[in-house]
Amino acid sequence: MAYEVKGVVARSKGAPVSIETILVPDPGPGEAVVDVQACGVCHTDLHYREGGINDDFPFLLGHEAAGTVAAVGEGVTNVAVGDFVVLNWRAVCGQCRACLKGEPQYCFATHNAAQKMTLADGTELSPALGIGAFVEKTLVHSGQCTKVDPQAPATAAGLLGCGVMAGVGAAINTGGVRRGESVAVFGCGGVGDAAIAGAKLAGASTIVAVDIDDRKLEWARQFGATHTVNSKETDAVEAIKAATGGFGVDVAIDAVGHPKVFEQAFYARDLAGRVVLVGVPTPDMTIELPLIEVFGRGGALKSSWYGDCLPSRDFPMLVDLYLQGRFPLEDFVSETIGLDSVESAFEKMHSGEVLRSVVVF
Ligand SMILES: NC(=O)c1ccc[n+]([C@@H]2O[C@H](COP(=O)([O-])OP(=O)(O)OC[C@H]3O[C@@H](n4cnc5c(N)ncnc54)[C@H](O)[C@@H]3O)[C@@H](O)[C@H]2O)c1
Ligand SMILES: [Zn+2]
Ligand SMILES: [Zn+2]
Repeated sequence: MAYEVKGVVARSKGAPVSIETILVPDPGPGEAVVDVQACGVCHTDLHYREGGINDDFPFLLGHEAAGTVAAVGEGVTNVAVGDFVVLNWRAVCGQCRACLKGEPQYCFATHNAAQKMTLADGTELSPALGIGAFVEKTLVHSGQCTKVDPQAPATAAGLLGCGVMAGVGAAINTGGVRRGESVAVFGCGGVGDAAIAGAKLAGASTIVAVDIDDRKLEWARQFGATHTVNSKETDAVEAIKAATGGFGVDVAIDAVGHPKVFEQAFYARDLAGRVVLVGVPTPDMTIELPLIEVFGRGGALKSSWYGDCLPSRDFPMLVDLYLQGRFPLEDFVSETIGLDSVESAFEKMHSGEVLRSVVVF
């Protein structure tokens, strides 16, 4: 028997989201139903609503969530009813080309639930990032459930499910930030500040935060930025060079996903430095760079899906560091809100008032 619950749906491009009745099937083989306790509002949810990801409306939004397992289907062994889990969008398959090469963080065939959640009239929903968690109960593949220490509050732990993991991983996994290196992070929202906190955790000695909003720059300092640049007022590339003896940074992270910002990141890095693109561009964006500069500067231009994380390795580790007081997971939670406030959370995100609004159930 399907569960009947309330959830947040984006019905068409650019239209405000609405609360709808959602039908969640009982878990089939390999699936789990999770009682969502908290789900953060990520910029990617807004990208979905604006048609910036694809046109598979209607979307069931929300994908940065933690909760408890309510039911499991046949053959599920990694989690059991009552387990506290963070949902992930990288349930590795173990069999694709990437997995077989021993690089499961790039898995090309990640698992999602086989069954569909629907609207009351039977219309199939596209769950954001294969999760869909602005809903009281959600259906996922059991591999999308990662058990973590239940002492962590769901509001904070859930953020590992997307933005915080993406940011930390962009610095540590993709960028490979090492002790003593210099890092610049462009865009100090939830993802960018997580990259700053990740760079600090990795031992970076210079961390330059770049944003166009002074409030964001103040918060960036709290997460570990040693220098801040308002790129609306100051040339970011010049300021970053000034902070690094004239050379540029070892790792430049674009956490906005805009050609202008990527170009700044490209020129703000030292010779043989790494550029990491973790912000998500829209399909219409293009970039033009002198090829001789791409060649001549050496180093690497990398993109970072989900911070190249492995949920089973990285989520419990970051929760443990948080519980030991070594990673400020809770500081990303700006406010807790009800399911009916997702649309206003998008507005607050846009106007820069919050790092993360988190829906609690
Ligand atoms: N790669 C991934 O796996 C992954 C995961 C989650 C989110 N994302 C993406 O990361 C990006 C950031 O997400 P978020 O939730 O932190 O968003 P956010 O809206 O909270 O933060 C974006 C920040 O960028 C700043 N900004 C905007 N334009 C700028 C510019 N030209 N120069 C400098 N700063 C600028 C804003 O002031 C804001 O502080 C989004 O594109 C999101 O879709 C990627
Ligand atoms: Zn795989
Ligand atoms: Zn996200």
